[in-house]
Amino acid sequence: MALAFQVAGTALLPCNPLRAAALRGAPTPSSRRISLRGVSPRAEFHLRPLPYEMDALEPHMSKTTLEFHWGKHHRSYVDNLNKQIEGTDAERYNLSELVLKGYNNGNPLPYFNNAGQIWNHEFFWSSMCRGGGGEPPAKSEVLELIVKSFGSYEEFAELFKRAGATQFGSGWVWLVLTRDAKLEIVKTSNALTPIVWDHIPLLVVDVWEHAYYLDFQNKRPDYLAEFLDHLVSWQAAGERLSRAKAFVNVGEPVIPDL
Ligand SMILES: [Fe+2]
Repeated sequence: MALAFQVAGTALLPCNPLRAAALRGAPTPSSRRISLRGVSPRAEFHLRPLPYEMDALEPHMSKTTLEFHWGKHHRSYVDNLNKQIEGTDAERYNLSELVLKGYNNGNPLPYFNNAGQIWNHEFFWSSMCRGGGGEPPAKSEVLELIVKSFGSYEEFAELFKRAGATQFGSGWVWLVLTRDAKLEIVKTSNALTPIVWDHIPLLVVDVWEHAYYLDFQNKRPDYLAEFLDHLVSWQAAGERLSRAKAFVNVGEPVIPDL
């Protein structure tokens, strides 16, 4: 199911990467470009542009980190996925479908890691914005649900940071909406994403070393604190929550990519 992202007004809000991406004409995560190889056209995944300038998150996440993280790591997942699925049945799937089918009920297919990493990174970039971080806006639906689920924002922040600090090896920490309308903090390893368990992600932070080592070296807890205090886009989380509730309420089991 395709859903056009509605752009309200013309002002480019400083802390709204989703709207910024839409205004800049960024393609959706599952969009592809058509290329001609041989006699028949095929669709390729491409490196989705960042929803902000490369230096927009400084001093909390450096331009150098984004140049390597987005420009090299993320790009390599895209390039490798295209090579892996070329000429196979998997070429007809969009990115979310590749993640879900590639998970293969816990017996991942060869392309799963690259598809999952692309999905996770696109979600991560739009989970941050310039001028973000801190507590969600007062009386916002996100804050109310956080308080209901964790007791307070402070308790949520401690649990989120602890989850990130204790994720062994490479992985991700997510704030998800479960299908029974509760918020949970979920850790995943490597390229795993909670959409394979039918959770609805609202936020994610990348805790692979490539996400923070240039800026924080081995101090992952400092990186996690910086993410929550200065980078997280509660506006993105709120929009994802609103969309998720709308689709869940009408019985739609799959939330379209944003
Ligand atoms: Fe990463």
